[in-house]
Amino acid sequence: MGPKKIIIIYNDDPEIVLYEGGSPVPHIGVIDTALTVEKAMRAKGFSTTLIPLNYDAWEFVEAIKKADADIIFNLCEGAMGESTFEMNVAAMLELFGFKLTGSGPFTLSLALNKGRTKDILIANDIPTAPYLILNEVPSRLSKDLRFPLIVKPVHEDASIGIDEEAVVKNMSGLRKRIDYVLKKYKQPAIVEEYIDGREFNIAIMGNCRPMALPVSEIDFSQLSGSNPKICTYEAKWATDSAVYLKTPAICPANISKELEKELCNISLNAYNILGCRDYARVDIRMGEDGIPRVLEVNPNPDISPDAGFARSAAVAGFDYPHLISEIINIAYSRYKV
Ligand SMILES: Nc1ncnc2c1ncn2[C@@H]1O[C@H](COP(=O)(O)OP(=O)(O)O)[C@@H](O)[C@H]1O
Ligand SMILES: [Mg+2]
Repeated sequence: MGPKKIIIIYNDDPEIVLYEGGSPVPHIGVIDTALTVEKAMRAKGFSTTLIPLNYDAWEFVEAIKKADADIIFNLCEGAMGESTFEMNVAAMLELFGFKLTGSGPFTLSLALNKGRTKDILIANDIPTAPYLILNEVPSRLSKDLRFPLIVKPVHEDASIGIDEEAVVKNMSGLRKRIDYVLKKYKQPAIVEEYIDGREFNIAIMGNCRPMALPVSEIDFSQLSGSNPKICTYEAKWATDSAVYLKTPAICPANISKELEKELCNISLNAYNILGCRDYARVDIRMGEDGIPRVLEVNPNPDISPDAGFARSAAVAGFDYPHLISEIINIAYSRYKV
């Protein structure tokens, strides 16, 4: 018998709302996503319970225990206002013996360390941009990185800390931006070579034989010449901003069969090597050298209907309720002996 009763867990901690100084935040999206996911589950005949995670982890676990469901659909992207607690939620629930959708704590934690993730990709011959991690403003770079460079907080997600100023052209710009990231985000900065070129997202689903869904591309062609062609925080979340409207996603991407195959193979390798489960999204950029380089792997990607994952799934023929029920079934079958 398949799963019938589902718990949906999601973040409900006001702290995250304040993250980027008043602009729309992922957190708000998370609540909407939880409601939309619930609706999709009901359309497929599941019975559902929504359980928010706020500041009381005891209460949270007790509510989960009381609801006594077959599996938990995990939408938590952190806890107590901290992205890095994302792994703790999964780890805690696994320890209590609950079944849950999505990647385990190790993969969730690894993906939130962009440097370590890149080390593992490099060790497995998966191309990614050369980088350095910095805990202080450097007087010179210990590695020969070619400008322009992009500076990001090392432990964040959702383009937090990424705006037009993140791309720097020289040492003084770099020093200024590192100082900004260290002070504002209170964590090391990752500095990477900036890949000037196309950006692709590859959604992957499954376990034994995971499959790549149709490739999506972010179209930067409408952005004005001086702006770096990147997905800033604003471009990702401020749905009424000019940069959001000028960076539409195109799915399926207009690419050759060969490139599609290459992007999917790289993404499937990255998914497997990082130990992703059930579903994930891989972000790739390809510069003039034609080498697709993995930016990052998202083991807990935005699963809302208007985000990239669901868009790719729709092109593959999964309507939204079908996608959600598929993720539940994929996750549930991991627990079968
Ligand atoms: N090395 C890079 N070269 C070019 N653009 C980049 C690079 N790294 C990040 N970006 C841009 O910044 C965005 C966010 O970076 P990413 O590493 O995916 O972090 P996040 O976890 O915040 O999504 C990407 O979608 C891309 O547009
Ligand atoms: Mg990304």
